[in-house]
Amino acid sequence: MKLFLDTANQAEVEAAVKMGVISGVTTNPSLVAKEGGDYIERVKYFCELVGGPISVEVMAADTEGMLAEARELAALHENIVIKLPITAESLAAIKQLKAEGIKTNATLCFSANQAILAARAGASYVSPFVGRLNDVGMDGMGLIAEIKAIFDNYDIDTEIIVASVRSPRQVTDAAMIGADIATIPFKTLEQMVSHPQTDLGIAKFESDWAKRK
Ligand code: E4P
Repeated sequence: MKLFLDTANQAEVEAAVKMGVISGVTTNPSLVAKEGGDYIERVKYFCELVGGPISVEVMAADTEGMLAEARELAALHENIVIKLPITAESLAAIKQLKAEGIKTNATLCFSANQAILAARAGASYVSPFVGRLNDVGMDGMGLIAEIKAIFDNYDIDTEIIVASVRSPRQVTDAAMIGADIATIPFKTLEQMVSHPQTDLGIAKFESDWAKRK
């Protein structure tokens, strides 16, 4: 399973790239709004630095508006992936963008049927939101398992990005199910790195080494 970083923060992307473990970045309007600054320049920088897919969301609600925004964003860099919330309008846009060779990420996916529609429209990626489903008492990881089984049944090549991840355990669960990608906040990445036994082990090795004869 590949890991994407779910952030618009430059320092976080730089730190994760330095670690050598991320293959892409996903942003959303809330994440971009938190950062300020010139987000177009930052997105271009991420494209170069990460060398993989960088998802950027369109804000228009109608198909024509989505297409206009998407074409402008896609022209910035070959690694740009256009993120569109799943609606009747965006499915039409996804189909047209595929015809134009522009990659798409169907986001705000909360049901297997939405994922099927996104795949049929030709989305490169679909992003089911695990954490937000759990927030309303539903089974987020259960949805990932459903979509994975359906895509396997029909050899659908739309990649599943497990989104709205809130804990390291969800990353393990996503990988066990066989999701293609988990997009994770920087905090979750940090939590995945550390383990108390690793810290204790390092401390023990250091103290033993200091006492060597
Ligand atoms: C995914 O692409 C979204 O940006 C993200 O995972 C949303 O996560 P949240 O529900 O924690 O805001």
